Amino acid sequence: MRILAIETSCDETAAAVVEDGRTVKSSVVSSQGELHARFGGVVPEVAGRAHVDLLTPVVAEAMDRADATAGDIHAVAATMGPGLIGSLLVGVSAAKAYALAWGVPFVGVNHLEGHLHAAFLEDPDIALPAVVLLVSGGHTLLILMREPGRYRLLGQTIDDAAGEAFDKVARFLGLGYPGGPAIEKAAAAGDPRAIPFPRGLRHEGYNFSFSGLKTAVITYVRKHPEAATADVAASFQEAVVDVLVEKTRRAAADAGARSVCIGGGVAANGPLRERIVNAAQADGRAAFIPTRAMCTDNAAMVGATAWYRLRLDGPTPLAAGANPNLRLPLEA
Ligand code: KG4
Ligand code: ZN
Repeated sequence: MRILAIETSCDETAAAVVEDGRTVKSSVVSSQGELHARFGGVVPEVAGRAHVDLLTPVVAEAMDRADATAGDIHAVAATMGPGLIGSLLVGVSAAKAYALAWGVPFVGVNHLEGHLHAAFLEDPDIALPAVVLLVSGGHTLLILMREPGRYRLLGQTIDDAAGEAFDKVARFLGLGYPGGPAIEKAAAAGDPRAIPFPRGLRHEGYNFSFSGLKTAVITYVRKHPEAATADVAASFQEAVVDVLVEKTRRAAADAGARSVCIGGGVAANGPLRERIVNAAQADGRAAFIPTRAMCTDNAAMVGATAWYRLRLDGPTPLAAGANPNLRLPLEA
């Protein structure tokens, strides 16, 4: 079964053709990064309009690269939420139109469930139960996955998402947008132990807090204008990574997980990837770290999730709407 999947929840216009939930026939991602860079962040109105311009050529490219025509597609999927409503609507409306025109089912997908599935696309044999650290621009979740489709929420951020902290600190330091890659690049030349920034909620449960860290960086730089930006970036990154790794490790041990996975845009961060692998190795657990392209927003993860969802729930009614606040379906 071949699914055409569309992802337009934020500022990436993406389409993919995925076979049987695991074989990626094509995956095209057109980033609007440069369009938003001069504003220092995603401008929702600009993102929505750009999706309208980009979606048709991106879908055509995905179909072309997969060597597929309409008759080869058995369902069309799109991200229903969470995300920016003006962006979501473009992908959802287009997917419904393709489904209707081609006479195939439409499948609405939760963007977060997509990120959770990304690791399994590249390694279908990840040993379950797995603890998945999902860190993106909008979310920071620690999830226990017993089987595909069964998720238990272990912890989440109580304020800023990890990616949001990277973006805000990068903006404050004048490093540009998107902040994560900019901080990682600046940090490479700095000393991660230069400044002892706070590790929020370090010893308490599995929840995260990053807004105190962001404030600490701002306060420190205002007090020490002579501080090297590389040292500030490296020390900030170290504080974020410390907490993410420590909590993931503890959650995996407490839950008796057999493996550890990461996902979401922040999972593209080099030091985080390296330390998650080292920690898992030291604890005798398997670690699976998706390629960077599979961590950031893409439609292949949406196509893989759609395949599971179609088998579990059947098609999504065309009357169902995009939902900017869509929640992950969790176990009690
Ligand atoms: O998953 P994603 O592409 O979009 C959302 O669903 O939010 O994640 C984007 C986030 C941004 O906050 C970006 O700064 C962050 O991921 N990010 C990184 C890196 N690459 C992207 N954060 C840290 N290090 C990176 N290398
Ligand atoms: Zn995302």
